[in-house]
Amino acid sequence: MKLALPVAVGLGVLLAIPMMLQWERPPMDSTQQGYRGTGMVEVDNPRTVAKQMAAVVIPEAQEPAEKYGDKASDVYENVQVLGDLDQAEFDRLMLAITEWVSPEQGCNYCHNPENLAEDSVYTKVVTRRMLQMTKTINNQWGEVHAQPTGVTCYTCHRGQPVPQNVWSINPGPRQAGGMAASRMGQNLASPQVGLTSLPYDPFTDLLGKDGNIRVNATSALPQGTSDASIQATEKTYGLMMHMSQSLGVNCTFCHNTRQFTDWSQSPEARVKAWHGIKMVNKINQTYMDPLASVFPDNRKGPQGDVLKVNCATCHVGVNKPLYGANMLKDYVTELNAAKSQ
Ligand code: HEC
Ligand code: HEC
Ligand code: HEC
Ligand code: HEC
Repeated sequence: MKLALPVAVGLGVLLAIPMMLQWERPPMDSTQQGYRGTGMVEVDNPRTVAKQMAAVVIPEAQEPAEKYGDKASDVYENVQVLGDLDQAEFDRLMLAITEWVSPEQGCNYCHNPENLAEDSVYTKVVTRRMLQMTKTINNQWGEVHAQPTGVTCYTCHRGQPVPQNVWSINPGPRQAGGMAASRMGQNLASPQVGLTSLPYDPFTDLLGKDGNIRVNATSALPQGTSDASIQATEKTYGLMMHMSQSLGVNCTFCHNTRQFTDWSQSPEARVKAWHGIKMVNKINQTYMDPLASVFPDNRKGPQGDVLKVNCATCHVGVNKPLYGANMLKDYVTELNAAKSQ
């Protein structure tokens, strides 16, 4: 009987440890990504996946448009990018973007209700660029990245004017002066990089400026051929943490981790991801950054730059955005109509 208390405490501790470590009960699902024995396996908890899938809401498509036979540019006063659409398709697209971007605020989120042709509300000017950007993503980046699922405004916006996952240049938290206090852009458990202490802003250089991600030496001697600093290497790892997190996958989804560099040992997904990196740089440099003069200050980051796109903006934790639901197919004509100004 004397032993009962220590035994009970011991058992309690043993049970508490897995709970503290967020132990998940079996059964788990696993999908093999590489040869047997390489450990290249994605492990998912089917109960968590079911919950995540149930949380994804896909709005029903608008009724198909029955053409009126009049071009929008003939009927309306100030259509600069959608002029070639039939008026019925144009109106249908207005309904759809309202549902995708500003369902609570309605048409007036982009329009002065007194005069729909006026450009006085900045969101209308932003939207012209967004229409051109969405078209570019589906066409220029369709084959190598976004198709067959395709991208609509909803992929990023999900019923909100500002997408849930965006980034801007991150100067880090305020800190005391002096060398010792400097964090050098890292050493802070940061959600962008999976709560590691890796550099918390890998985005500015690598997803905003086409910076160099390759850090591995390609030969052993002399001193290897890589002149990448430790900090540049950590930035690459920071980006990789972000990519894994955004897609809800492990490193082995894209790498055989015995040789991170080698493309011939990597799953095909890595090639898609490489195009994804190029695409995101293009989106940010060509479409987001130049909107700096259009966005008001409260829509910018602490350094005054525009809120930008990373992998999580579209993917939101899933390897194919919206679990591969193709919303584009119902709006092919409308979302391909935007002319460049
Ligand atoms: C997310 C922004 C946004 C929302 C929400 C929106 N619009 Fe528009 N609307 C635009 C843009 C951008 C144009 C100009 C398109 C162009 O230049 O080709 C436009 C143009 C128009 C025009 C043409 C006006 C003219 O004479 O030039 C009409 C009509 C219109 N919208 C109606 C609506 C209606 C009705 C709703 C709500 C169901 C709506 N819009 C919601 C962005 C929006
Ligand atoms: C690749 C992701 C992505 C896609 C696709 C996308 N957007 Fe955006 N959108 C953004 C980001 C990022 C912002 C910047 C948020 C900010 O600073 O307001 C933004 C901003 C906006 C804003 C300004 C909102 C505000 O309150 O300031 C509007 C309006 C908008 N988008 C409409 C659209 C429409 C309409 C489409 C489809 C034709 C679209 N977007 C497609 C990422 C996207
Ligand atoms: C979604 C796919 C994807 C995931 C997940 C991913 N990577 Fe990568 N990784 C890439 C791509 C693509 C490149 C090459 C980028 C380039 O060449 O510009 C790369 C490059 C790298 C490099 C640099 C290789 C070199 O040549 O110097 C390292 C190191 C790396 N990844 C490590 C990781 C680690 C560690 C993880 C998990 C935390 C990870 N990756 C997860 C796609 C991925
Ligand atoms: C504009 C939206 C968008 C952005 C931003 C984006 N992706 Fe994607 N990505 C997609 C779509 C849509 C698909 C699905 C394509 C398909 O149907 O196979 C996809 C598919 C992928 C796949 C293949 C997944 C699979 O299971 O076959 C990888 C890997 C990937 N993306 C990596 C990335 C990485 C890494 C980034 C950031 C550097 C990124 N993506 C940014 C839209 C996007």
